[in-house]
Amino acid sequence: MSCFLICGALFVAAAYVYHEIIVKGKRCTSNVKLHGKTAIVTGSNTGIGKRTAVDLARRGARVIMACRSRERGEAAVSDVKKESGSSNVVFMPLDLSSLKSVRDFAENFLKSEPRLDLLINNAGVYSDGRTEDGFGMMFGVNHLGHFLLTNLLLPPLKESAPSRVINVSSAAHNVGLIDFDCLNKHRTLRLGSTTSDLVKIYAASKLCNVLFTHELHKRLQGTNVTCFSLHPGAINTEFDRNFPLSILIIFGLVRWFFFKTPEQGCQTTLHCALQPGLEPLSGRYFSNCTVRNVYAKARDDATAKKLWELSERMCGLQ
Ligand SMILES: NC(=O)c1ccc[n+]([C@@H]2O[C@H](COP(=O)([O-])OP(=O)(O)OC[C@H]3O[C@@H](n4cnc5c(N)ncnc54)[C@H](OP(=O)(O)O)[C@@H]3O)[C@@H](O)[C@H]2O)c1
Ligand SMILES: *[C@@H]1O[C@H](CO)[C@@H](O)[C@H](O)[C@H]1NC(C)=O
Ligand SMILES: *[C@@H]1O[C@H](CO)[C@@H](O)[C@H](O)[C@H]1NC(C)=O
Ligand SMILES: *[C@@H]1O[C@H](CO)[C@@H](O)[C@H](O)[C@H]1NC(C)=O
Repeated sequence: MSCFLICGALFVAAAYVYHEIIVKGKRCTSNVKLHGKTAIVTGSNTGIGKRTAVDLARRGARVIMACRSRERGEAAVSDVKKESGSSNVVFMPLDLSSLKSVRDFAENFLKSEPRLDLLINNAGVYSDGRTEDGFGMMFGVNHLGHFLLTNLLLPPLKESAPSRVINVSSAAHNVGLIDFDCLNKHRTLRLGSTTSDLVKIYAASKLCNVLFTHELHKRLQGTNVTCFSLHPGAINTEFDRNFPLSILIIFGLVRWFFFKTPEQGCQTTLHCALQPGLEPLSGRYFSNCTVRNVYAKARDDATAKKLWELSERMCGLQ
C-alpha cells in the first residue's frame, strides 16, 4: 500500500516536472520595447498568431492583424486590445488563398502605413482543396501566398531596417519532399487526399518555408533585413480542425498533457522577432528558442533557388 502511494507520488512528480520543463519549453526572455514600430501578424485571429499579437501590442508596437475573416478578425482585434491594454491594433483583410487578396492587402498597407519592422508569416492550414488561383490549398496558403506577401513588403522592410521576417514553419518539414514535376504539372505538391497524402503535402509546404528563408537570406545580404524560420512546438490550437475524427480522439487524450498552450507556443516566434543580436543567424531555423541545424534538403541552394524562381512565375512576379 505504502509502496503504491510512493510510486504514485513519484509518478505525479515526474509528470509535473516533465510538463513544466519539457512541454512548456524555453521562453522568450527579451524585454525589448516596440514603441514606434509596426508589426504584421498573418492568421492572428486565433492560436499562436493571436498570442503573438498580444505580446507585440503589450510592448508598444502598432500591430496589424492580417486575417481572412472580417468578423473573426475584428473580434480578435478587440480581444487583443483588451488583453494588451493597447489601442494601437488594427484589422486588415488578407486571404492568403487568393493572390489578388494578397496584392490588395499589400496595396492597402503601403498606402496607409509608413513603416514595417516585423513581418510574421504565421497563418497556416492543414486542409485539402484548391485556392482561388487553382493551386493546392496548403502550397498556396502556407507557401505561395506568403511568398508574394513577403516580396511585396520588402520595400518598407528595407526602409525600416533593421527589420525582421519570421516564418512559422514546423518540424514536419523534416519529412517533407518537393516534387517539382507535380508542382509544374498540377500546381500542387502532391495529388491525392488520403490522410497520408495530406500529411505529406503539409510537410512539403513547411519545407518550402524553410527553403525560402534560406534563399531569402541570400537575397537580403547587405540590407539589414534578417529572416528566420521556426517550429513553434506542438500546441493546443484550432490547427487540428480538419483532422479526421479518429485522430482527434487519440489526440484528445494526449494533447492536454503533451501540448503547449498558445501562449507557450508563441515563445519561439517572439524570440526570433525580438531577441537582440540574432542578426548573424539570419536564414536559420529555430525551435524551443534555440537555433537548430536542419537536414541538407532544407538548406539546399539549388532547390531553394528553383523553388524561388518557380514561385515568382506562379504569382506573376516575373
Ligand atoms: N499547432 C501546432 O501544434 C503547430 C505545430 C507546428 C507548426 N504550426 C504552425 O503554426 C502556425 C499557426 O498555427 P496555429 O496552431 O495557431 O493554428 P490555428 O489555430 O488553426 O490558426 C491558423 C491561422 O491561420 C489562418 N489562416 C488559415 N488559412 C488562411 C488564409 N487562407 N488566409 C489567411 N489566414 C489563414 C487561420 O484563420 P481562420 O481562423 O480564418 O481559419 C488562423 O488564424 C501555422 O503556420 C502552423 O503550420 C502549428
Ligand atoms: C527546451 O529547452 C529547455 C531549456 O533549455 C529544456 O529544459 C527543454 O527540455 C527543452 N524542450 C524541448 C522539447 O526540447
Ligand atoms: C517565408 O516563407 C515564404 C513562403 O515559403 C517565403 O516566400 C518567404 O520568403 C519566407 N520568409 C522567410 C523569412 O523565411
Ligand atoms: C546596416 O546596419 C549597419 C549597422 O547599424 C549600418 O552601418 C549600415 O549602414 C546598414 N546598412 C544598410 C544598407 O542600411
